[in-house]
Amino acid sequence: MKNTEGSSEAKRRAGEHAAGLVEDGEVVGLGTGSTTAHAIRGLGHAVDAGLDVRGIPTSFQSRQLALDADIPLTSLDAVDGVDVAIDGADQVAERPGGGFDLVKGGGAAHAREKIVDAAADRFVVVADPSKLVDPLDYPVPVELLPNARPTVAAAVRDLGGEPDLRMARRKDGPVVTENGNLVFDCDFGPIDDPATLATELSALPGVLEQGLFVDLADEVHVGHGDGVDVLGR
Ligand code: 5RP
Repeated sequence: MKNTEGSSEAKRRAGEHAAGLVEDGEVVGLGTGSTTAHAIRGLGHAVDAGLDVRGIPTSFQSRQLALDADIPLTSLDAVDGVDVAIDGADQVAERPGGGFDLVKGGGAAHAREKIVDAAADRFVVVADPSKLVDPLDYPVPVELLPNARPTVAAAVRDLGGEPDLRMARRKDGPVVTENGNLVFDCDFGPIDDPATLATELSALPGVLEQGLFVDLADEVHVGHGDGVDVLGR
């Protein structure tokens, strides 16, 4: 389930702007989605021009884009740390005291994305203006082990949500993640307390990862018609 409302020009501006932040010698987390794809291509141009970076992909899509762009790849177990991660979001809300909460997982890559984004010294979100909301109200993607489907569905309902098994397009049956799991898109309506909901969802037996990224992002680069607004720094 994807939030596809934003303009591709705004996404391009945000992605390319974030790519321009990456400095020589850095390890870069490569997020997933159409906005991050612009950042990966932009980084590829910088590599062509001589920038020395190594990328850590978060999905098949970002790995393939990085390979196509000739960005050298590495993995978390081969580096001392991640300098910067660039990733998109389905929704972004500013936290009352500063910082940001996100809903991610429209591409069902949120488990690997959260590992890499959380490991980064600097996590940069790239977005178009349609992603900025208050409060978050996008259905929260929950990746779960297949045999936990009935129990997780019941538990999500107990928490006040409505789970919807994400179905594949051009394949019969459900989306199966790159980790071999299923995804529920869980509609909670407006989410007044993302931190509590994230803790509750993460605690459910059988849940591998959920798409609320609470206070992880350091800044949000929002592309629009004639530039990029940087929120958070
Ligand atoms: C993938 C994600 C994406 O970053 C999110 O869906 C935003 O994608 P896009 O930039 O295409 O709007 O979380 O799991």
